[in-house]
Amino acid sequence: MPDTVPPRRTDSGEQRPDPAKAEPPKPEPFRCDGVAAAAPDLLPLGQSPAPVDLGRYLDAAATSPPAAEVFAAMAAQAGAAWANPSSLHGPGLAAAELLERSRIRVAANLGAEPSQLIFCSGGSEAIHLALLGSAALLQPGRLLVSAVEHPATLAAAAQLQRQGWQVEMLPVNRLGLVDPQLLAERLVPPTRLVSLIWGQSEVGTLQPLASLGALCRNAGVRLHVDAVQVVGHLPLNLAQLPVDLLSCTAHKLQGPRGVGVLALAPGLALAPLIGGGSQEGGRRGGTEPVLLAHGFATALDLATARLTAAAGQDPVAELRDELWQRLCRLEGLRLSGPSLGGTGQRLPHHLSLLVSSDDGRPLPGRALVRALARRGWAVSSGSACSSAVSTARAGGAGAGAVPAGGASPILLAMGYSEVEASSGLRLSLGPWLKPEDLEPFPADLDRARRELQAALA
Ligand SMILES: Cc1ncc(COP(=O)(O)O)c(C=O)c1O
Repeated sequence: MPDTVPPRRTDSGEQRPDPAKAEPPKPEPFRCDGVAAAAPDLLPLGQSPAPVDLGRYLDAAATSPPAAEVFAAMAAQAGAAWANPSSLHGPGLAAAELLERSRIRVAANLGAEPSQLIFCSGGSEAIHLALLGSAALLQPGRLLVSAVEHPATLAAAAQLQRQGWQVEMLPVNRLGLVDPQLLAERLVPPTRLVSLIWGQSEVGTLQPLASLGALCRNAGVRLHVDAVQVVGHLPLNLAQLPVDLLSCTAHKLQGPRGVGVLALAPGLALAPLIGGGSQEGGRRGGTEPVLLAHGFATALDLATARLTAAAGQDPVAELRDELWQRLCRLEGLRLSGPSLGGTGQRLPHHLSLLVSSDDGRPLPGRALVRALARRGWAVSSGSACSSAVSTARAGGAGAGAVPAGGASPILLAMGYSEVEASSGLRLSLGPWLKPEDLEPFPADLDRARRELQAALA
């Protein structure tokens, strides 16, 4: 039997909300120097950081640098499409025209009709709208989520639990995969909603969506899919997927930050979370982010062109595979999540590792991230969400210190021990990287690992 949702920590070690008990988060007092206060490693406001060397940026799953074409496309329209697209005058109509053109382009890339899309602020909002907006039109029942969901899904689930929904977490296996048999068994009343992360951000697992979605559809249960890590990396045709709602965001595919899309199956009804306006077909109030939507459409066009030119394969996979070929020869590194290659079970731009000392002791991934950052590399120990804030809360743990509660809840859910689950390292690549950029990485990682091993000996 699947568990009810246990207390969870975020990838950065914070306590995740237990939907049964969680109180709405208490707002922290606002300070105008709040950024620096929350994350002491950040520069004081007003000081510029050193320019980022994109050839050393291996953290695409956290966010990706906007493509030059995206900046250019947005800049080209900034002077013409600044107005409120609901206004009936010339400037308003120009903005509305750009918004609707962007919608058409995004829809074409996703295999949807423009009317199926709701522009919103990003993946987290899309997920909340999908789950809370669906639940508002349903009798409270049971929501099924996997044990490896993004914190945004868990937060929305926690809200539903406070509204009288049962939330049940489907366990995953060592690769992060949901058991289809178990899902099928739980697709009985009172299950009314399912939410699954298609591409897991920390360990790269791709759920077999066609078969899981077919189970939901046959049972008449509404399925939401968090496709934030998938869109732009796999060809997607929503019209052929057994999915009712799909969330995605622009910033993971070299688009701008602050814009996402919730795509709905044709005719699916949804209650808005934000009222007060008839924008987005009455499903999301608020003046639309016209230029951001244009940037999103441009980034998606680029991603689709890359996939099409490579017969549906993300060309970055080749770079990722070559990197792993070199890394797997080093001591103390092994893969977490699905293997690379033909099975189609892993995000194509994604590598997740478990790092240990020469004698097999797991080493703290976050300390390794810092050691690599000192060498100019941008990598991650898990999902980026809130890691800066929780590091600050943990007192800015430095190299050699295992931050309190550093274990990844995702790795724990996959059956790793607490100490193994603190040793994750995520490398996620993007089209800005060239093979020569990655040349020095294995040696730097090896040095960083040895340095850490010596510090902890
Ligand atoms: C799988 C997944 N879902 C949702 C989100 C949230 O997306 P956003 O940052 O656009 O709110 C992220 C971002 O890290 C993610 O990786």
